[in-house]
Amino acid sequence: MTQKPDLLIISRVVTQNMRDRLATQFTLHELFAIDNPQDWLAANGASVIAVATDGHFGAKPEILTHLPNLKIISCYGVGYDNIDASDCANRGIIVTHTPNVLNAEVANTALLLWLATSRRLVRDDRFVRSGDWVNRPAPLTHSIDDRRVGILGLGRIGQELVRRLAVFNPEISYHTRTKKTDVTLRYYDNLVDMARDVDVLFCITPGGAATHHLVNREVMDALGPDGTLINVGRGTVVDEVEMVKALQDGRLGNAGLDVFELEPKVPAALFGMENVTLLPHVGSATVETRAAMGALTVDNILQFLADGTTISPVPECQ
Ligand code: NAP
Ligand code: 8YV
Repeated sequence: MTQKPDLLIISRVVTQNMRDRLATQFTLHELFAIDNPQDWLAANGASVIAVATDGHFGAKPEILTHLPNLKIISCYGVGYDNIDASDCANRGIIVTHTPNVLNAEVANTALLLWLATSRRLVRDDRFVRSGDWVNRPAPLTHSIDDRRVGILGLGRIGQELVRRLAVFNPEISYHTRTKKTDVTLRYYDNLVDMARDVDVLFCITPGGAATHHLVNREVMDALGPDGTLINVGRGTVVDEVEMVKALQDGRLGNAGLDVFELEPKVPAALFGMENVTLLPHVGSATVETRAAMGALTVDNILQFLADGTTISPVPECQ
């Protein structure tokens, strides 16, 4: 019997179904189940030809340096800011990700955060559970109908969000580096200007150096005391220290956050704020969407093993 090639899993979220499919063609090694990963990598890294990882762990240089014969990194997620894809391309390693199959779910999560934050879902749920309702009515909240909406990052997910927002009758504008030729929404080439003109700012850009702290103090001050920031992109896109200060000072009204700069660490100052809704990076985390992402992650690897091609390489590797 011929020996199967080695595949390294660097993730805590890959599913059993993914493992089962990969195990038909590979010998699997789970980095997080290995007692001494550094020793293991030094001794066995040369035999690894494929990595399955996720957007959170990616593939750090200190691991890649031990994998001289690596051919493919398949990322279970669309964001690949924790993989140096240009360097991989230069080394002949193909990087794949899972675009499109999660657009609807992440757009739903963005809407969920906006609704929950504006209508104070968490506060009012606590209010009912506390039994205090018998003593007084819940305070009024704000509607999400007829609002001015700004979208930072009008890519695959941003455009899905636009479609879903329609029922709330918004006035939508967007900011990206490049104006879209096929979109009639109002374009701002300056994020501060857009933030000044909207009630809610949705952040749906990739992470990485190019977007680091794009949402800074100036942007948050422009959004203002009645404004709402929703972030489903990456935590690094928002200056989190400044965001906490802006919320504490009342310079920023509300925030709905699925992602954080140092996740899973979240600033404790946010925990007591009623005007903030917090999620543990679950934008795509439904059974249905994770199944589709898992299938694409595995399909990319198996197709590569079969004929050297992939379904959804990242732009740097196309
Ligand atoms: P995409 O199709 O590549 O869209 C990215 C958008 O961001 C584009 O419109 C791009 O336009 C814009 N952008 C990029 N850099 C920018 C910059 N420096 N300034 C302003 N705009 C910029 O990506 P997608 O599939 O929609 O995914 C977007 C991101 O969402 C992912 O990369 C990931 O980080 C995040 N995400 C989060 C979750 C979650 O669970 N919370 C799930 C999936 C994805 P220009 O290039 O013209 O600037
Ligand atoms: C995943 C994501 O939860 O696709 C992305 O970019 O952030 C999420 O869908 C993540 O990749 C898993 O760690």
